[in-house]
Amino acid sequence: MATKAPDKIFSSSAPLRGRLRVPGDKSISHRALMFASLAVGKSRIEGLLEGEDVLATAAAMRQLGALIERKDDGAWEVLGAGLGSLLEPKAALDMGNSGTSTRLLMGLLATHAMTATFTGDASLSGRPMNRVIAPLSQMGAHFEASDGGTLPLMLRGANPPVPITYRLPVASAQVKSAVLLAGLNTPGITRVIEPVPTRDHTERMLKGFGVELEIGEENGERMIAVHGESDLSSCDVVVPGDPSSAAFFIVAALLVPGSDLVIENVGLNPTRAGIIEVLRQMGGSIEELDRREVGGEPVADLHVRHSSLSGIDVDPAIVPSMVDEFPVLFVAGALAQGTTRTSGLEELRVKESDRITTMANALKLAGARLEEQEDGLTIHGTGGELLRGTPEGASVETRLDHRIAMSMAVAGLVSRDGVMLDDTAPIATSFPDFEQLLQDAAA
Ligand code: S3P
Repeated sequence: MATKAPDKIFSSSAPLRGRLRVPGDKSISHRALMFASLAVGKSRIEGLLEGEDVLATAAAMRQLGALIERKDDGAWEVLGAGLGSLLEPKAALDMGNSGTSTRLLMGLLATHAMTATFTGDASLSGRPMNRVIAPLSQMGAHFEASDGGTLPLMLRGANPPVPITYRLPVASAQVKSAVLLAGLNTPGITRVIEPVPTRDHTERMLKGFGVELEIGEENGERMIAVHGESDLSSCDVVVPGDPSSAAFFIVAALLVPGSDLVIENVGLNPTRAGIIEVLRQMGGSIEELDRREVGGEPVADLHVRHSSLSGIDVDPAIVPSMVDEFPVLFVAGALAQGTTRTSGLEELRVKESDRITTMANALKLAGARLEEQEDGLTIHGTGGELLRGTPEGASVETRLDHRIAMSMAVAGLVSRDGVMLDDTAPIATSFPDFEQLLQDAAA
């Protein structure tokens, strides 16, 4: 990641108006680069997110032998190395801040007979990797990880790999995807059972690349079976806009009086769209225009108007479909009428930062009233009154977490004294144009 940016204040905003387009979906962008790198032939990717996390994936796939090039029209072309024909990387794979790059690539390389070392920044180096090491070890891979199962770690791919059936102990699309990607270069059928459905971009896109994959049910739980050792065929991918990036503008437009904003081309895969449902339950006016399909994913333009929000108890069953959107939902809760209660958020503690404590500290510093529990926050909203903002000389600790930085920037738009952030550099991992788009929308 870029070095720390200087402290920056986000202050009360004019209404957000007009139309804007958020960048490509991060989860889909990672997968498009990885699968195209495994395919035989040339794939073209349109709408790829050019954020640091995805560029870390591109750099790694190049080290593994794929030819990846950005064309003048903004599309990316990938000439795949072919499944089973990846090259052993000559240097460590630097995953930067990106958990998705790390866990998915660990899965992929776990069944290639090679050695690879994974490194990352301070945030990524604190995140748990045992959740992927466990199933990948069952498939025959070996790992030497740092204390507590963290990066830097060394992986030695299985030779030969063995197929497994793995029931996910945590609701994690990254763990699911790691096992499925390991299954690609494994003879026979590798199966994942997910008691709680998570984002299904891997399943959708693998099918697009011609992989034989079955989705069914076992004892009432979702089961995905991937047939190993089949070639991936090159494929053109169009990446829809990222709903997780759109969420910052949705909440900003709901909160800033007078706002009337259209966010174009937002991916609305049901495994990702929980935030929209919850904000509507709180009274948010979010209308879907021109619902259509882009790259095998449902997409719409979202028309968002300023609304008076009411606090709710968020159903923990919806957590997997909005797991990355809680930081910005907390901001919505801080401005709502009444109390918003969230629970079942244990996984937030192992994201780029501990998002429960980091947001609790950040919002308290900005004047919000809340209590922290082990698995969530209880937030007493202002009923639409501006937050106070950060006190003179104090700034929010963003802790190398892009979503904390953007969420608290949104909080700044509805604060009396502004919200000072200690570092905006992490925003570039997922949404390099965030500040520019925000400025343009409020111009
Ligand atoms: C992602 C899965 C989620 C999410 C992350 C992206 C993915 O992580 O938080 O931002 O692309 O598969 P978990 O698998 O840890 O829930």
